[in-house]
Amino acid sequence: MEKTPLTQPEAVLFDAYGTLFDVYSVGLLAEQLFNGKGEALALLWRDKQIDYTRLASMSGRYRPFWDLTRAGLRFAALKLGLVLDPVAEDRLMNQYRHLSAFPENRAVLQALRERGIRAGILSNGDPEMLAVAVKSAGLTDLINPVLSAHPVQRFKTDPAVYQLGPDALALPARKILFVSSNGWDAIGATWFGYTTLWVNRAGGPLEQLDTLPTRTGSSLRDVLDFFPSA
Ligand code: LAC
Repeated sequence: MEKTPLTQPEAVLFDAYGTLFDVYSVGLLAEQLFNGKGEALALLWRDKQIDYTRLASMSGRYRPFWDLTRAGLRFAALKLGLVLDPVAEDRLMNQYRHLSAFPENRAVLQALRERGIRAGILSNGDPEMLAVAVKSAGLTDLINPVLSAHPVQRFKTDPAVYQLGPDALALPARKILFVSSNGWDAIGATWFGYTTLWVNRAGGPLEQLDTLPTRTGSSLRDVLDFFPSA
């Protein structure tokens, strides 16, 4: 595996779902609704949501992330033999709009601001979903820009989505630190040319695709190692 020397990044872009917002925080409500199956539903829901983004993107059949999230939930419930009535579906979708943010986010974003480093989001989420998530996590003042895949009608790992970062920040990809907890996203961004940090919160295995992210960490705090304070 190739290791490239570190280029000092000048800005940070965070993936949203799984990285800033805990996609498995829906598990608690799912467990209340479907006793003993909540965790399985949350896991399958997430997998199917991502699966659908790839299917839609590869086939040129873009639909907003919100719609694919609902479709993923419906599939996951069917697969697990759960009866998802419209009320339960709306409650789970509403919970998805207001996912818990990881506790260290604010301090890390504040530290970046103090170091003069611009910090934004680059996500598959559609603009409305992202705006609500950022606002309900109380992070509006600390994140700019919020870049959504929506204008290019593709999803990560399509290069057109990653290109939104350099275009918005007027920096080459290698001068932007792209941070994701999704191993596949960290690899896609590395292929694109970003400097990358894979925040391996779950302690999962590395994607076996012969590519390493620039660095691997265990919490968002590891972002700060790229930017030593003066
Ligand atoms: C995102 C998904 C992939 O926020 O987590 O882009």
